[in-house]
Amino acid sequence: MNQKGGCGKTTIAVNLAAIMKSTGLNTIVLDADPQLSASRWAKQGGEEFPLTIHPLDMTKGARKVKTDIRELTQSADVIVIDCPPELREPAMLASLLADMVLVPVTPSPLDIWAAEAATELAQDARELNGNNKPLVILVPSKTNSQTVIAKDLGKTLASLEGQVAPVNIVQRVVLAECVIAGSTIDRYAPNSPAFREMQALCQFVLQFK
Ligand SMILES: Nc1ncnc2c1ncn2[C@@H]1O[C@H](COP(=O)(O)OP(=O)(O)OP(=O)(O)O)[C@@H](O)[C@H]1O
Ligand SMILES: [Mg+2]
Repeated sequence: MNQKGGCGKTTIAVNLAAIMKSTGLNTIVLDADPQLSASRWAKQGGEEFPLTIHPLDMTKGARKVKTDIRELTQSADVIVIDCPPELREPAMLASLLADMVLVPVTPSPLDIWAAEAATELAQDARELNGNNKPLVILVPSKTNSQTVIAKDLGKTLASLEGQVAPVNIVQRVVLAECVIAGSTIDRYAPNSPAFREMQALCQFVLQFK
């Protein structure tokens, strides 16, 4: 989740879900974005696509959304919700229902401020839930390891109200290419650094399961 458009939400959601599925976890992606990017990505892969992605209208109220999620994900071990670029009802509902909220953050000051709003919303959900859920994780996204600002990103993010993933999802062309190929990074480029970074993020996330 993040209201900032294009920060890597769908790229991370779908690749992370594919890697989780490849480890034997029954993983389902719910596409809560009316742009339907994740669903289109799956369509591009056709029958070969390794994941089930269901569109989910999250604007119909909490009760309907809960029923829809229950019906769509009956036997799932992991449910990944790809949120739209806004912090309205779908983001709040997803936060209230989630065990964990991942906020991808790109390394520019304006984007870091946007991430702050997303982490605050997730923290509000935590307070409303009255327990430790959701866990809020900031994920450095589309970083370029060469620039100073990317190197400092981890430090800057540490001042926000969320835990920072110890992995950078670096800007890598192969992550865009695998969408065009209708595939996911674990299948498209299993020997690439992009896969290893996504796998490391997956391992980090699963330790909280
Ligand atoms: N780490 C990365 N390296 C290279 N390209 C990336 C990376 N992450 C995302 N992209 C590319 O950036 C664009 C936006 O990514 P993506 O759709 O995942 O962002 P988003 O946050 O889901 O966008 P939206 O807010 O529109 O839902 C896409 O073209 C995608 O292929
Ligand atoms: Mg998206």
